[in-house]
Amino acid sequence: MVRLEETLTHFDIYLGDACNLKCVHCACWINESAPRFDPDVLEARLFEAVGYAVENCPKLDKVMLIGGEPFIHEGMVRFLEKQRLDVMITVYTNFVWPNPDVVLPDNVYFLSSMDAPAQDIYGQLRRTKDFRYSQEIMRERSSKLLHIDTTVSKGNLLHMDAIFDITRTYPCTHWFLPIDPRMMRYEDRMKNGGTPTPTELSNTLRTAARTKSLMLDDDDLRVVEDFYRRRGAELTPEGFERTNDFDTFRGIYLSGVNKFKNETFDYRKDMAEQKITLPGTGQHRCAAIRRYMEISFTADGQFVPMVHCPELWDILATQRGPGLPSFKALMDWEYEARGRSGCQTFCGRTQFLGIDEYEDTFRHIAVEPA
Ligand SMILES: C[S@@+](CC[C@H](N)C(=O)[O-])C[C@H]1O[C@@H](n2cnc3c(N)ncnc32)[C@H](O)[C@@H]1O
Ligand code: SF4
Ligand code: SF4
Repeated sequence: MVRLEETLTHFDIYLGDACNLKCVHCACWINESAPRFDPDVLEARLFEAVGYAVENCPKLDKVMLIGGEPFIHEGMVRFLEKQRLDVMITVYTNFVWPNPDVVLPDNVYFLSSMDAPAQDIYGQLRRTKDFRYSQEIMRERSSKLLHIDTTVSKGNLLHMDAIFDITRTYPCTHWFLPIDPRMMRYEDRMKNGGTPTPTELSNTLRTAARTKSLMLDDDDLRVVEDFYRRRGAELTPEGFERTNDFDTFRGIYLSGVNKFKNETFDYRKDMAEQKITLPGTGQHRCAAIRRYMEISFTADGQFVPMVHCPELWDILATQRGPGLPSFKALMDWEYEARGRSGCQTFCGRTQFLGIDEYEDTFRHIAVEPA
C-alpha cells in the first residue's frame, strides 16, 4: 500500500472549539474545556506539521486551519505571519479578529461564514455585536477571500438575497447550506453520558431549544428553491459560478433528515420519509482515504489524528486517534489505520470534506418518495 504522503491533497488542521462568537446553531462556543494553546507550542507544532507536509507530500494542494475561531490563537497567527511555505494556506474564520492589522504573506487565503445581512439578525444568530467589525475586516481582506458559507435557518431564510448581495463584488464563491441538527445531537450527548459543567448544560439546553425552532421544513425549502431559481445563475467577477444549486442544498438537507430522523430531532414527517440512495464508491479506496486528512492537538500540543471514514470508526472504535509526539509518528499511524478500510458504498459524508471528486456527488443521488 502506498503511504498517505504520496496521495495527500487536502490537509485540515482543527484548532479545537474555542470561539469568540455564540452562534445559535453551533456548539463550539459552549465547550469550556476547549484548548487555549501555549502560543510557542502551537507555533512550533504548526511549523512541524505543515513543513513536513510541504516537504513530503508532492500532491499537496492546500492546508486549511479551522476551529472554533482560529484567529483567537496567538500561536496560529504567529505561524501565519512568519511562514513562507510553498503551499496555499486557507483559514476558515468569522473575521472577528483580535488584531485586525496583522500582516500576512501572499499564500494565506480565507473562507468564512456569513449568516446575517445586518446587526439585528447577526445579534439573534451569532449573539454578539460584531457584525460591522467583521464586515470591515472581510472587506479589507476581500482580495484573499475564496469562499463564503451561509447556514440557512428560519432565522435568515428571508434574508438570503441581502446576504448574497454583500459578496457580489468579492472574488469568492458563496454557498448556502441548510442548518443541521448537530446542536440537538450535542444536547443529547450532554444529557446522556456527558459531563457538562452547570454553565455548559444550561447553555446547551437553551441553545438547542432555540436551534430546534430554527430548523427548516418543507415550506422553507420552497423559499430556498425560489431563491436559486432567481439567483442561482450569477457569476463571480472572474466569471465562475457564484453559488451552489438547489439539488445540493436539498441533498444535504435530506442526508441530515435521514441521519437524524430517529434520534433527538423529529423532522417533519413527509420529508423524513423520503429515501436517499447513495452511489457505490466504484473503487476500493475512496478519495477521502487517499487524499484527505485532518489533525488536531491535545491541550499540551501532541498531534491527534481525526478519523473521517465511518467504516474506520467502527474498526478502530474511535473518531480520534491517540496523542502522538511527532508529526512523523502521526503519519505512521495514519498509514497503518488507513490500510484497514475499504468499503463498497459511498458513505455520503465525504462531500463535506472539500475534495474535488465529491463536488458533484449530490447531483447523482437519487431521491425517492417513500
Ligand atoms: C464551525 S465553523 C468554524 C469557522 C469559523 N468559526 C466560522 O464560523 O466562520 C465552520 C462552519 O460550520 C457552520 N456550522 C456550524 N454549525 C452548523 C449547523 N448546525 N448547521 C450547518 N452549519 C453549521 C458555520 O456556520 C460555519 O460556516
Ligand atoms: S463563529 Fe464559527 S465556531 Fe464560533 S460559534 Fe459561530 S459557527 Fe461556531
Ligand atoms: S465509508 Fe466513506 S470514507 Fe470510508 S472508505 Fe467508504 S466512502 Fe470512503
